[in-house]
Amino acid sequence: MTPAERFVPAATTPITAELATRIVDLAAIARNIHRIRDHTRTAMMAVVKADAFGHGWLEVAHTALDAGAEWLGVATVDEALALRRAGITAPVLCWLADPWTNLTDAVNLQVTISCANRETLDAVAAVARMTGVVAQVHLELDTGMSRGGAPSNQWHDLCAAAAAFEEARELVVTGVWSHLALAVDPDPSSTADQKRAFDEGVAVARATGLSPAILHLANSAGALDHPDTWYDLVRCGASLYGIETVIGRSHGLESAMRVVSRVVQVRRVPAATGVSYSHAYVAEQETTLVLVPVGYGDGIPRGLSRGGEVVIGGMRHPVVGAISMDQLIVDVGDYPVALGDEVVLLGSPELGEPDAQEWADVTGTISHEILTGLGGRMARRHLTTDTKAAS
Ligand SMILES: Cc1ncc(COP(=O)(O)O)c(C=O)c1O
Repeated sequence: MTPAERFVPAATTPITAELATRIVDLAAIARNIHRIRDHTRTAMMAVVKADAFGHGWLEVAHTALDAGAEWLGVATVDEALALRRAGITAPVLCWLADPWTNLTDAVNLQVTISCANRETLDAVAAVARMTGVVAQVHLELDTGMSRGGAPSNQWHDLCAAAAAFEEARELVVTGVWSHLALAVDPDPSSTADQKRAFDEGVAVARATGLSPAILHLANSAGALDHPDTWYDLVRCGASLYGIETVIGRSHGLESAMRVVSRVVQVRRVPAATGVSYSHAYVAEQETTLVLVPVGYGDGIPRGLSRGGEVVIGGMRHPVVGAISMDQLIVDVGDYPVALGDEVVLLGSPELGEPDAQEWADVTGTISHEILTGLGGRMARRHLTTDTKAAS
């Protein structure tokens, strides 16, 4: 299916009453999952934190499970509970539980809680003791990311404490995991070092009496490029949403989000017209300026006013002048544009449209930040076709 065919429903979507719409192609997410699974032949945790990178946590969770993902991964307890309250019974890992959050519902609803320090482990065990429900725990080891995860000098004691709680039948450590810092790096040595540290950490865990059945280390980049990091489960976020982890190298992933809006004002202006706040842009010659009703309040980065482009009428045109909270201006030159014309803000590079990576390059960030930042007053629609179809 070509990108044009995939998004055909966009043309008929009744978006005129909406200022802008994020159109999410769930079938593209399913195809990305099939591609990764065909490649790794390993169980997958679909990472649906941060509203599934802006794509809609519930829709993506269902799509991912239908497409074969065995686990869902989220950062916060609230995200995990939302999945359970929506009726999702699949295994869910939550990796930012802290000792001050009430963990009772998470334990009761069999959310697997990641513990990287003694305080969180104690809090989980206390809830288990109180409720009589055996808590499911994955222990996180820091192998070189220096972000979450127990530092190596605390790992033995954390595992020993967990083993004691297992003895008391308060919790069961079903997994041990860590996170890769440099899996996108062409030099594989750092990933190899992390893998070595992970293997040593698993050995320590086993020596304390734990028998974690599920070991996991790989993120998208690990899943796509480092088979020795796959273990029992790969945790994929970015790749589900079509983000190629190594810029310039394609694994055939499809971006799943398209953002469209409408021209709400067209004006012809003379040469030397200053545009928007501070008049940072001044028209060199007579030209047509069009107004698009989205701005930084909807997650459009202000940096797009220096090099960002949109597509109107099948042609690219520059975003000009300071982007406001609710509106941006496009200089279409002498191109004929009418009120109500569709404006493609994000689309398919195959169709000559900008994608999140292009925005990221223009604004000096990563496409993850672009996609998760979009929202505000934009509507969101999900294209639903058969997400179970094999690739
Ligand atoms: C702990 C953890 N695992 C897995 C992922 C997925 O990583 P990626 O988006 O690179 O696949 C993330 C972040 O998104 C994460 O924070």
